[in-house]
Amino acid sequence: MSFSSDLLNWYDSRDRGLPWRGERDPYRIWLSEIMLQQTQVETVKGYYARFLAAFPDVAALAAADEEAVLKLWEGLGYYSRARNLHAAARIVAGQLGGAFPPDAEGLRRLPGVGPYAANAIASIAYGEPVPALDGNQARVLARVLAWDAVIKTPFDLLAPALERIPRDRPGDYNQALMDLGALICTPRSPTCEDCPVAGHCRARADGAAREYPRKPAPIAKKEQDRTILLMVMDGGLLARRRPKGLLGGLYEFPAVEGRFDDGASLVEALAQQGFIGVRLIRPLPDAKHVFTHLVWRMGGWLAACDAAPEGFTAVDRAQLAGLPFPSALRVYREIAEEVAETLTR
Ligand code: ADE
Repeated sequence: MSFSSDLLNWYDSRDRGLPWRGERDPYRIWLSEIMLQQTQVETVKGYYARFLAAFPDVAALAAADEEAVLKLWEGLGYYSRARNLHAAARIVAGQLGGAFPPDAEGLRRLPGVGPYAANAIASIAYGEPVPALDGNQARVLARVLAWDAVIKTPFDLLAPALERIPRDRPGDYNQALMDLGALICTPRSPTCEDCPVAGHCRARADGAAREYPRKPAPIAKKEQDRTILLMVMDGGLLARRRPKGLLGGLYEFPAVEGRFDDGASLVEALAQQGFIGVRLIRPLPDAKHVFTHLVWRMGGWLAACDAAPEGFTAVDRAQLAGLPFPSALRVYREIAEEVAETLTR
């Protein structure tokens, strides 16, 4: 039997209980693929259900405020996905009259839909025979083929991927490869003894599955020290919406680049930003957050001030709970909620 028949037989014999399986509605498939791009399946399940309950179709999503969309995305990370999702919904509901583009090429023109997602959606929703080539599919193919070149982009494997994709069931085939990559042909400990396509795998024949895909040298992440301030003013805590860029559109507390051993220099740095009359109250725990190319090493202070630069507003406990904050600030946000509880207006 061929690689794809063995793979599809295995796929047909099991059910992962994923809520988007068997779905043909491009809106729902698009949403699942965008959520699944950088997030684990188990995490996505809950978000997917809540998101669809709030925005059951593309018109509902297009009509929503960006902030409501970001709020439902809170904790999923990579927030540009949510902003692009919203922008794309507005294009589909507006310019395209409510209908999603009918093929991968058209889908790719939507904000946030890259070649991988476009192919995944088109194969699942429309049966277009295009490979959903992401890191997972590339890893599986690299092993099957014992592909010795370093893979720069998964599309390096486009030719062999296209060769294998069955015309009659491309969506199931792509999802079967995703499952194989997630459950069996995993990055570090593939369980080749359970693999339905082990008989087609060159790396397996050589006993070398773990040595593929060949890896490039890792990039060093930039490290940044930051000091986060839970700043009391007017009976609330100061927060503002971050401008465009990293975590753009999400909320943040006052912050200063760097870490400060002495209070005077921190107060001075805050004064330079326009915080007037700052009194430091107590230090807060350290926290660390790892982004794709960046690490934040954070320290924090509870403080109070008399005046703040433009853009900051004093929010109470209830407002704080309703604003989207990035996971990077989770530690300080939790403390902020406790502090805000004790403040009265
Ligand atoms: N990862 C990305 N898309 C997926 C899908 N449709 N099913 C399972 N895992 C996925």
